[in-house]
Amino acid sequence: MKIVSTAEALREQLGEWRRAGDHIALVPTMGNLHDGHLSLVRIAREHAERVIISVFVNPTQFGEDEDFEKYPRTLERDKLKLKKVSVDLLFVPEVATMYPFGIDKATTVTVPALNQELCGSFRPGHFDGVATVVSRLFGLVQPDVAVFGQKDYQQLLVIRRLAEDLNLAVKIIAGPTLRDEDGLAMSSRNQYLTDEERKIAPELYRVLEKTAEALHTGNRDYAALEKSAVEQLTSSGFKPEYLSIRRAENLDAPDRDEDHLVILVAAHLGEARLIDNLLVEI
Ligand code: PAJ
Repeated sequence: MKIVSTAEALREQLGEWRRAGDHIALVPTMGNLHDGHLSLVRIAREHAERVIISVFVNPTQFGEDEDFEKYPRTLERDKLKLKKVSVDLLFVPEVATMYPFGIDKATTVTVPALNQELCGSFRPGHFDGVATVVSRLFGLVQPDVAVFGQKDYQQLLVIRRLAEDLNLAVKIIAGPTLRDEDGLAMSSRNQYLTDEERKIAPELYRVLEKTAEALHTGNRDYAALEKSAVEQLTSSGFKPEYLSIRRAENLDAPDRDEDHLVILVAAHLGEARLIDNLLVEI
């Protein structure tokens, strides 16, 4: 695995691969890698001769009161983890490589159709930061394929939309959410949980499953289902931001006869802000 931190070195390597006719797959991450990230690398491997993973804790997607400073940076451990999978290149840019004109003067990408709702309303500017850094990574790498987790469902839709809207020649592939045995979705932020909170955390997924079950049995009173789910989370010790049933395709409010639904949730548990979602096909 080659490790590269500058745009020049990246371009040089990419040129060589392109001349050989290789396709390139990109897996963008913020590091602190877990098996969920590694599963995306394995998916990427199925789609291209060359796989690049990027590790960059992107400052523009964190709000002022959020965890940018304390976000776990574990590059040496990440390199060891990557030995378990097949990666050709690890791209670890500095802020100045990703934002050569500085953050304040950076050209930004906004996806207004999706950036205000749900997580967007609790994290203003978050999805602009994501859309901006992912567009920059696409510009640097020009991948044929890029793989993102369904775990961050709204982010996945934001990225699909920007790629389509800007006519980018990249195919966006979604990887399923990897979970611990008790159902908790793997996340770098799970390590903010105390032992006690870690025992409560899987309740987030159980509430999604219960809500999905109710939808499957024909209950289409979305507002009542959302209210009851929020109450269950609150009584378990969470501080829910939202639990919302939406159209899977575009996060619009669903009609009663919608068949492709997604239940999305964000809730604080102690120091951790946890998100999860579940697709429901009726
Ligand atoms: P990060 O949180 O590091 O996640 C990197 C990728 O891993 C994302 O596509 C995310 O959806 C996926 N992922 C996270 N947990 C997962 C799990 N349990 N199972 C499967 N996939 C999972 O998301 C980001 O970084 C950033 O916003 C980024 C896209 C890199 C832009 O900065």
